[in-house]
Amino acid sequence: MKAMQVRDSSQGLTLYTAQLPQPTPAAGEVLIRVRAAGVTTTELEWYPTTHQKSAEPRTNAIPGHEFSGVIEALGDGVQSFTVGQEVYGMNDWFADGATAEFCLTQPSSIAPKPASLNHDEAATVPIGALTAWQGLFDHAKLQPNERVLIQGAAGGVGLFAIQLARQHGAYVIATTSTPNVDLIRQLGANEVIDYQKSRFQDLVRDVDVVFDTVGGETRDLSWSSLKPNGRMITIAADGESSTDPRIKEHYFIVEPNQKQLTEIATLIDAGSLKTYVRAAVSLEDAAKAYAKSIPQKLSYGKVVITIPGVS
Ligand SMILES: NC(=O)c1ccc[n+]([C@@H]2O[C@H](COP(=O)([O-])OP(=O)(O)OC[C@H]3O[C@@H](n4cnc5c(N)ncnc54)[C@H](OP(=O)(O)O)[C@@H]3O)[C@@H](O)[C@H]2O)c1
Repeated sequence: MKAMQVRDSSQGLTLYTAQLPQPTPAAGEVLIRVRAAGVTTTELEWYPTTHQKSAEPRTNAIPGHEFSGVIEALGDGVQSFTVGQEVYGMNDWFADGATAEFCLTQPSSIAPKPASLNHDEAATVPIGALTAWQGLFDHAKLQPNERVLIQGAAGGVGLFAIQLARQHGAYVIATTSTPNVDLIRQLGANEVIDYQKSRFQDLVRDVDVVFDTVGGETRDLSWSSLKPNGRMITIAADGESSTDPRIKEHYFIVEPNQKQLTEIATLIDAGSLKTYVRAAVSLEDAAKAYAKSIPQKLSYGKVVITIPGVS
């Protein structure tokens, strides 16, 4: 199969085209014919891209751990899905990802693809929507009528966070850049702060929850917006390697969750949750997508790699 692998070069971690054997599902695994894979450019900096679970160095990882596609084969004992079924989901960070014609995953990490989305659209959903869901509901325990500040509302995670928080009955304050202000308001934010024109730290006080997707100085300044005993959730990539105990305590990594993927698909098919393809490129252009050097159709949403189906 055709795949993209991460290699260390003089330009840092870069993607290269590789021709690899098609994987075979072991007992309990599912083989996906990938039709589209999401791009989280910061994934190249994440620990599992360059390390194995044992902490040994890892080379030639295939990136992109969210996908939409078709089930090609089932390992022994997998009964909950059928060959030919359209599914979307994630796979383990330490396993080879989906920037390839095929990838392996577990049945508990996938769900039927939202019927109203094509594969490119569906591949924008799993990591962004699961991270927003788990951050707001499992970790922050957001309650109706609470006030939440969402930093980075126009990104792959932030777009889902504003929609889910608002539908849950929270009062949503969101930060974004000038071109995205109108969209973020249309998606339900009660207040939108254009961070290119205003300083949120001068405007936002006494929120119950901060949901930070930006990290760095933005996260550090966000503590002053919280109520005493308010809850901070941070997912930004720099949280993973931080040694600051406050950041370590409030950082989490998204996990695959079939039940949540199924509920998210239901919301999408009911028209209650929207997703956006920032740009779609071919497998051959994946290196450029990870280097952020492709033209973008939108200034918000997620970039995907499209892989043609068999005809
Ligand atoms: N821990 C986990 O499980 C997990 C899961 C997914 C992602 N992540 C991490 O979370 C971060 C966000 O991921 P993503 O996929 O949402 O990234 P993304 O699509 O690149 O979105 C980031 C957004 O941040 C906005 N932004 C940049 N500077 C800002 C500022 N000063 N104030 C407010 N907004 C600002 C940008 O919006 P504008 O265009 O409006 O500037 C951009 O849309 C990354 O670091 C990623 O590695 C972690």
